[in-house]
Amino acid sequence: MLNERLSLPMRTLTVDLGSRTYPIYIGTGLIGNPELYRPHIRGQQVMLVSNETVAPLYLEAVELALRDYRVGRVILPDGEQYKNLDVLDRIYTELLNRRFDRQCTLIALGGGVVGDMTGYAAASYQRGVNFIQVPTTLLSQVDSSVGGKTGVNHALGKNMIGAFHQPQCVIADTATLDTLPDRELSAGLAEVIKYGLIDDAEFFDWLEDNMTALCAREPAVLAYAIERSCADKAVVVAADELEAGCRALLNLGHTFGHAIETAMGYGNWLHGEAVGAGMCMAAALSQRLGWLSADDVTRIDALVAASGLPTAPPPEVSGTRFLELMAVDKKVLDGRLRLVLLKSIGEAVISADFDPDALKQMLNAA
Ligand code: NAD
Ligand code: GLY
Repeated sequence: MLNERLSLPMRTLTVDLGSRTYPIYIGTGLIGNPELYRPHIRGQQVMLVSNETVAPLYLEAVELALRDYRVGRVILPDGEQYKNLDVLDRIYTELLNRRFDRQCTLIALGGGVVGDMTGYAAASYQRGVNFIQVPTTLLSQVDSSVGGKTGVNHALGKNMIGAFHQPQCVIADTATLDTLPDRELSAGLAEVIKYGLIDDAEFFDWLEDNMTALCAREPAVLAYAIERSCADKAVVVAADELEAGCRALLNLGHTFGHAIETAMGYGNWLHGEAVGAGMCMAAALSQRLGWLSADDVTRIDALVAASGLPTAPPPEVSGTRFLELMAVDKKVLDGRLRLVLLKSIGEAVISADFDPDALKQMLNAA
């Protein structure tokens, strides 16, 4: 596996945002390469943020690459249940204890939880400092590290406190995925499938053909899926950075998924698992509305299942509870729930114009 890896060259994609344009580096052995960090750090102060699972695996390599800087570290507890304002405060405290100024750079080393929290700390510390994403889960390499959404959860709603704040660069080292548990790999595949469903039918076809190889972590197949996902996301983010329009499509399955995560207690269902089930629920509702064919629903359920993800929500979350929790979604406008739904594989739409009874029937049948 390693030999095949070594032959894969580093790829660089660009998130095109005018003066805030930044690169996504994808390849193996990147986290220890000082040259990738250097152009994106000003001054001398660097704060590495990781968690207690990832730090023992990869922190030393990153610290070695940054040996020319004054480096601090904050190691957070591991888990979605710690993605909150209380734990976030540890980052601010360390920055202040070390007298880090507005020129400092934060580096997020970990999955989406570390990335979202570090990004929000960077967005808010002294009204905004630079940060770099070093994602180490599949989910964070294909989604959360790209696009500048940062934030934490509130007990009453997922990701309800946050800011848009773009990183200086994303360093996605695919070799770090070697230590990722299978359940977490599957969780990342949910967001990969999402890109195919939203606007890349060809990618969806490719995923159907390559899901077995992806689950077996074949390096070239995995690298291609990461690159194509990032390329798809970069286009959407460049078109609608602040989610005034089409970026909301990236939330396919998320309104249902966030409700599952909140109802089940943060960390019990993984984000990707909830999104997997949520995409199947969005497909089922789209079919009820007469927008999506039964064949497409079958293909979607089959691909989600093949990636090792649930295709239905947990039975203990009732239809009524779903409706309560979905009313706190960020896509609610003027009290009207908007959902990302499907017209076909590769064509998602955002709509408030659906029959609420069809939604209730789908939730009660799910
Ligand atoms: P995570 O950050 O909790 O990581 C999953 C688990 O894998 C954790 O236990 C972590 O410690 C461990 N881990 C990380 N890298 C590892 C490695 N290389 N080897 C072994 N273990 C490793 O979860 P996630 O799935 O990466 O991210 C989910 C979070 O991302 C959610 O909070 C979600 O809301 C957020 N998210 C944000 C965006 C965004 O645009 N900002 C998009 C999607 C998801
Ligand atoms: N993960 C959804 C977004 O970045 O918009």
